[in-house]
Amino acid sequence: MQYSEKVLQHFMHPQNVGEMENPDATATEGSPACGDQVTIYLKVDKENLIIEDVSFLSYGCASNIATASIITEMAKGKSLEEAKKITWRDAMDALGGLPPVKAHCSVLAADTLQSAISNYEIAHGLKEVPDFSKETIVDELKKIIYPQVGEDIITLKMVKYVGYDEATGEVLIDLNLMSFDQYRDNVAEEIREHLEKYPEVKDIKINFPS
Ligand code: FES
Repeated sequence: MQYSEKVLQHFMHPQNVGEMENPDATATEGSPACGDQVTIYLKVDKENLIIEDVSFLSYGCASNIATASIITEMAKGKSLEEAKKITWRDAMDALGGLPPVKAHCSVLAADTLQSAISNYEIAHGLKEVPDFSKETIVDELKKIIYPQVGEDIITLKMVKYVGYDEATGEVLIDLNLMSFDQYRDNVAEEIREHLEKYPEVKDIKINFPS
């Protein structure tokens, strides 16, 4: 597997590693794609809503460590609003790219940073806990990477339909992945793992072309 110089540099000498004492917010996320985890800690200047300090703990692979390292560097000193715009693609680009099967490591780092910011905002009354909706489902699907090309399944137009019945909690997803697609079952499994964590979701039906 070919890693860029920058990935190797951040893997060997990760920045902002370690548990933070008395953080203002924290989040731990796991990647359904592989089971690896990241925890991110934030210290926030409450007056100006600037990220004063940020650190991470990684329970994962080299790309997990490298993306968590670079994304904490990118977030440090930024306002919450600016940091909310940092995407997994930004982190991956800043590392000089990742092999396609490792793109999900960058998704995990970005997702954890965004969860920590969101936890801060909710705890400090800056936003409400968002209602679960079809939009939540689509946002989760945007985090699922098709490993062969390292791009998410929404961008790749692999999702044909998303439905959510609020009354029954049933989610219906039509995927444009044929039976011979080697990643079809992995993608379906990942979708289930992403959505099952929401208590509103009672049943998930995933359909494929016949
Ligand atoms: Fe899953 Fe890197 S985070 S392999």
